[in-house]
Amino acid sequence: MQIYREIHPFKAFLVENRPWGRTVGLVPTMGALHDGHLALIRESKLNNDITICSIFVNPAQFNNPSDLQKYPRTLEKDIQLLESIHCDVLFCPEAAEMYNSIYLTHFDFGHLDKTMEGQFRPGHFSGVALIVSKLFHIVEPDVAYFGQKDWQQFAIIRQLVKDLSFNVTLKSVPIIRESDGLALSSRNARLSPDQRKQAIVLFNALKKACALLQSDKSISDVKGIIKQYVEKCQDIKLEYFEVADSENLTLLNNVEESVSPILCIAAFVGDIRLIDNMFLH
Ligand code: PAF
Repeated sequence: MQIYREIHPFKAFLVENRPWGRTVGLVPTMGALHDGHLALIRESKLNNDITICSIFVNPAQFNNPSDLQKYPRTLEKDIQLLESIHCDVLFCPEAAEMYNSIYLTHFDFGHLDKTMEGQFRPGHFSGVALIVSKLFHIVEPDVAYFGQKDWQQFAIIRQLVKDLSFNVTLKSVPIIRESDGLALSSRNARLSPDQRKQAIVLFNALKKACALLQSDKSISDVKGIIKQYVEKCQDIKLEYFEVADSENLTLLNNVEESVSPILCIAAFVGDIRLIDNMFLH
């Protein structure tokens, strides 16, 4: 696997290695790689000639400095994992390489970034859009792969691509779960054994909510039930549970308002913030 830490040599490699018809798949990540990321890399390898993984813990998307500081960083192990599945190229720049002076560009995605993650992490999606735009300009990928776990992020990047006419196809890859249902996340590494047991409540809450909605309970009743259900766990604090249209992210009052509703949840397990989601149908 080729490893680049600087933009210029990385771009020179790309110019040399993508003549006529060769396709490039990009998997942007913040490292601390797990099977969820590896599923994205595998998907890219199946469908492209060159697969590039980027690892960059992007300061611009952290609204909480302690979250940025505590974000797991495991570059040596990540490199071994990427090599084991034959990823072709890793781009892992330092912060100074990506943001060599103060940056002033901010994004506003209207109603898309005002609810759920956007409401509780102000500025987060602007930071995501900035780094993803930079990566798209540097790599010019044919296809970019993102995990379904960050569904709101995917919907926002889809809007970004449309609004800025990026010439890239986006693919969302289904959530990979532990055997008990916990969605894989780099943040899981920080859970204590007891928190790990409690964290399963997010997945169970989504399953319970789906069953209730399918048996015609109203969204507002389900919200009340889910809050009580989640907060029965001593270490868990629910941040939000919402039912939204998966295309335009409008929050729903009634599941009949959308052909494809998605249930989204965020909760703190101790001081570790986890998110998860599930399509109703
Ligand atoms: O989903 C992530 O890991 C990050 O938000 C991304 C897309 C790599 C941008 O930093």
